Amino acid sequence: MERTLVLLKPDAVQRGLVGTIIARFESKGLKIVGLKARTFERSLLEKHYEVHKERPFYGNLVDFMSSGPVCAMALEGKDAIAVVRTLVGKTNAREAAPGTIRGDYGMSFSNNLVHASDAEDTAKFELGLWFSDAGELSDWTPADLEWR
Ligand code: PPS
Repeated sequence: MERTLVLLKPDAVQRGLVGTIIARFESKGLKIVGLKARTFERSLLEKHYEVHKERPFYGNLVDFMSSGPVCAMALEGKDAIAVVRTLVGKTNAREAAPGTIRGDYGMSFSNNLVHASDAEDTAKFELGLWFSDAGELSDWTPADLEWR
């Protein structure tokens, strides 16, 4: 089993697409093991995007990501990192394939709805940054509850 970090960016929250996007991940079979939403500190976003520090869009990206609420999620499943990246689609939403989240709901390069970890080491780093292992992530097994 693998875990990955997904951020629903401020544009997804502003557009009321949080439920729709989470449903795509849940329907696929990924398990939510951590979830929180609020406007996060600029310092956290700076660390998160540190790898892009020298790129010209870094400042704008951090401004955008700290401009309003973000929904942060830890998802678990077999090959979760690659599976989530496939569901999310290409960075430029205008070029993202139909059927992907960006392809179905986005038209922008920078306001592209979702961030998803791109590799095992990145996922580990990002999950550690966004969630405290002790209290904020849950190990759980789907239970055979008597709700029917
Ligand atoms: S990737 O997936 O890392 O290969 O994509 P990349 O093109 O390197 O972009 C990395 C993240 O930077 C965001 N980005 C931008 N934001 C604002 N303005 C411009 N011009 C821009 N170019 C790239 C892009 O959406 C990626 O964000 P995340 O959150 O990692 O998806």
